[in-house]
Amino acid sequence: MSKPLEGIKIIDFTHVQAGPACTQLLAWFGADVIKVERPGAGDVTRSQLRDIPDADALYFTMLNSNKRSLTLDTKTQQGKEVLEKLIRESDVMVENFGPGALDRMGFTWARIQELNPGMILASVKGFSEGHHFEDLKVYENVAQCAGGAASTTGWWKGENSGPTISAAALGDSNTGMHLAIGILTAYVGRLKTGKGQKVAVSMQDAVLNLCRVKMRDQLRLDRVGYLEEYPQYPHEMQYFEDKVVPRGGNAGGGGQPGWILKCKGWETDPNAYIYFTVQGHAWDPICDALGRPEWKTDPAYTTAKARQPHIDEIFATIEDFIKDKTKFEAVDIFRKYDIPCAPVLSMKELLHDESLRKSGSIVEVPHKVRGSYYTIGSPIKFSDLKPEVSASPLLGEHTDEVLAGLGYTPQQIAELREIRAV
Ligand code: COA
Repeated sequence: MSKPLEGIKIIDFTHVQAGPACTQLLAWFGADVIKVERPGAGDVTRSQLRDIPDADALYFTMLNSNKRSLTLDTKTQQGKEVLEKLIRESDVMVENFGPGALDRMGFTWARIQELNPGMILASVKGFSEGHHFEDLKVYENVAQCAGGAASTTGWWKGENSGPTISAAALGDSNTGMHLAIGILTAYVGRLKTGKGQKVAVSMQDAVLNLCRVKMRDQLRLDRVGYLEEYPQYPHEMQYFEDKVVPRGGNAGGGGQPGWILKCKGWETDPNAYIYFTVQGHAWDPICDALGRPEWKTDPAYTTAKARQPHIDEIFATIEDFIKDKTKFEAVDIFRKYDIPCAPVLSMKELLHDESLRKSGSIVEVPHKVRGSYYTIGSPIKFSDLKPEVSASPLLGEHTDEVLAGLGYTPQQIAELREIRAV
């Protein structure tokens, strides 16, 4: 069966993580993604954090699978001509250069439309057009700070209570995923109108979109002056006085209180923990699981509101119950009672997780230079499509093939190489 995005040609003018994550996703689903890279150097991630000398780093291979690589110096006249031809023949161009770089190269939106009125130009920038920070270059952690994630993550008191960065790529890969949705939307729009359009996602907006529940909390705080599901309530009300959403440690973000709890071995294993959620309507099963049936009828515990002043004591009771159980044993007990919980899994455990291997969420990919590498496969599962992950391309691996496809003869390709345009 042909893949759903087969026939869509994408110029992948992206680098580092945010843009490449977007185009890799589209490549998995069948798009022909041509990564345009500077001759000699390529995407900076090819050489960043290398684990094997002279082989493309995992940083690159894990974000650029299923693509073709064309080396092209788009600052030379000849390179610009090649890019123009490519623009005429493609459906989408994706870029995440610093602000203004594409214009400086001579490829303004007006020029791109002149070359191909159907073109969809998709961009990632740190901030949206017209924003007072629009000219800033941005990396992951900068976006997490600018989008509200850092101010709402971490601890509200103690030595390490400053704003905290998440390890999840909320600024980079998350923005790429938003952009992929934008591209597909513009593509469906083009099927109806024949016209392309510009699609842009700022990293700040993409982070903020994931911080929606924290903005909800700001609005609630403005109105009522406290947030009853936060660990500060009701014993440390001073943390609500300035009416700024405080950091909530490991508290649950919704109406269900939750916390990370220690299991057997936590003293030596940094990940011997589970996350436990006190789901309102699952209170009776929680009491049964813990062997505390008296809590089911005690008015001090029967409603979520009544439980909140005792929430630390409840978590301490659960921790006491699981102190002689591993995180997996604890989850095996609680799952029988339908309690939402999970072990805290390390990267090592995830890499070797049989279920993730079976579902294609972790895949092994053969590579010409590395031998083979593990990577994260498609998190999106379909009934009629099994995305297959193929190796990331070597630098310029498909230059001749792509140029020949644009009508260049072997002689012309050799000339372009001589003047270092490819
Ligand atoms: N041929 C010739 N020149 C090329 C080229 C090619 N194939 N590909 C890129 N370039 C040039 C660009 O024209 C630009 O040159 P200019 O600044 O002289 O106009 C330069 O290379 C790239 O600049 P820039 O994108 O600003 O790179 P940088 O390394 O200084 O900054 C970022 C990196 C990520 C900070 C910046 O690209 C950025 O802010 N991007 C938008 C936000 C983003 O996506 N950030 C997350 C990345 S994970």
